[in-house]
Amino acid sequence: MKETLLATAVGFATVMSEALAADPATALGLVPIPKEISFSRQKTPNALMLDANTRILYDAKSAGACEAAEFLVSFMVEDAGLKLTSAPAPAKQSHDKNIVFRAKTGMPTEGYELRTGPGVTIEASGGAGFFYGAQTLRQMLTRDAATGKPAIPVGITIMDEPRFAWRGLMIDCCRHFFTVEELKKMLDLMASLKLNTFHWHLTEDQAWRIEIKKYPKLTEIGAWRGGVGFDLPSTSTDRYRADGKYGGFYTQEQAKEIIKYAAARHINVTPEIEMPGHSTAALVVYPEFGCTGGPYAMPAGGGIFLDVYCAGNDKTIAFLEDVLTEIADLFPSKFVHIGGDECPKDRWTSCAKCQQRIRANGLKDEKELQSWFVRRMDKFLESKGKRLIGWDEILEGGLAPGAAVMSWRGVKGGIEAASAGHDVVMSPTTHCYFDYLQAKTGEPVGIGGFLPLEKVYEFDPVTTGIPEAKRQHVLGGQANVWTEHIPNARKLQYMTAPRVCALAEAVWSPADKRNWADFRARMDREAARLDAMGINYRKLDK
Ligand code: ACM
Ligand code: ZN
Repeated sequence: MKETLLATAVGFATVMSEALAADPATALGLVPIPKEISFSRQKTPNALMLDANTRILYDAKSAGACEAAEFLVSFMVEDAGLKLTSAPAPAKQSHDKNIVFRAKTGMPTEGYELRTGPGVTIEASGGAGFFYGAQTLRQMLTRDAATGKPAIPVGITIMDEPRFAWRGLMIDCCRHFFTVEELKKMLDLMASLKLNTFHWHLTEDQAWRIEIKKYPKLTEIGAWRGGVGFDLPSTSTDRYRADGKYGGFYTQEQAKEIIKYAAARHINVTPEIEMPGHSTAALVVYPEFGCTGGPYAMPAGGGIFLDVYCAGNDKTIAFLEDVLTEIADLFPSKFVHIGGDECPKDRWTSCAKCQQRIRANGLKDEKELQSWFVRRMDKFLESKGKRLIGWDEILEGGLAPGAAVMSWRGVKGGIEAASAGHDVVMSPTTHCYFDYLQAKTGEPVGIGGFLPLEKVYEFDPVTTGIPEAKRQHVLGGQANVWTEHIPNARKLQYMTAPRVCALAEAVWSPADKRNWADFRARMDREAARLDAMGINYRKLDK
């Protein structure tokens, strides 16, 4: 971040007292709004001035406190150009004027308490809570109007914890490729909003992006196509190889770097390896894993392609299990996403091997063959200590016992799965598809649709239709950035922000705390933060 945050932030004197007394979250522009926040007017002083004497102290025995303190040190440098030092908290020292991360037992997972008085205390039971406390304190940072010094308002008490455990953002890195550095910037944005799940879409019809050691051709060949495609100008990206082909991939070392960077920010990375549909890139490389044997061509445009993995071929199954073995070893994530969406059955209907599989297993039809396939992957992932999650089409023909469902074709699939006792992540097109346009006119070329900020804000992962007793199966919600029309990082940021702020509040904040007019008011200050972070967000409508 640059100094601009403080320069553009609402002046401290203005937000003080009257505004804080009226509504502290609004005055401070906190996003997502905390579960509980209160302000009590202090006699004196009413602001904690931060300067080189301010120390960031942490409970050395408490896991994650030191790391959160280090993050706060870096935020202060980025946001205020202020170099504070961090150190273990001495047992008997007055914490006046200092910022202290202190262990407190029995706090909710990911929860924290933050108090500003003569000093600041951030209390939590674990690393995520400390980290989120640091992120909130960062949002409270402003500048004293009289002295120009960085300052924190005094008299604030916050008790905060998330409403949902799965607070996700999916980025499709296949339709277009984004570098490790570009993804790190998106992870920073997610972390600033307390999102905790990066769903990394790694394979598609148009590209295979993750190195698989046993099958190096997947990325040597499958990560590259003739051009940027999707009718976009060739100048919209510079990701070209010497031979002019467009693309890129992540080595396993780079994936580890992303996983580590995300984990430090309390973000889990859930990989997605698409099957049995959306798999043309792999079939181009290994035509023997399709029903017809190919040859297949790498598509440079979108759509639903008829050629999919052959579910009747044991060699195809072995290949996919080999891939999942490397993925399971690489990613610490409990969940592995296997796609499962938009798999046409045309090839299976006329494939001798697929028909033989149907007969041999007493299956009724190709839908049940898809179910057989998903169950097989579910069992395999379970043997690797993982859990399967897939798009809601995996409900067709009967859901595998341990599988979780990501509901995208509305919330119907999610309701059905949760009602049957399966875990669910809600991600309906109606509220969560960030490839949709943000206004009816004046937007850059895109897939169509219409999903303005206000509509995202209306998202509630727990919809009517899920019996009360089954609601705990709704793990949370997620937005998806499909990138057919997003060839570079600037546009990725534009399509993601500010809608990701509304999503964050929908998955973090209590339902009864959410109010569009209040959120919109808080977003002016958040917009200044996005500016300071260098995020190319869509400007807010007045
Ligand atoms: C999807 O949008 N096809 C999951
Ligand atoms: Zn087949």
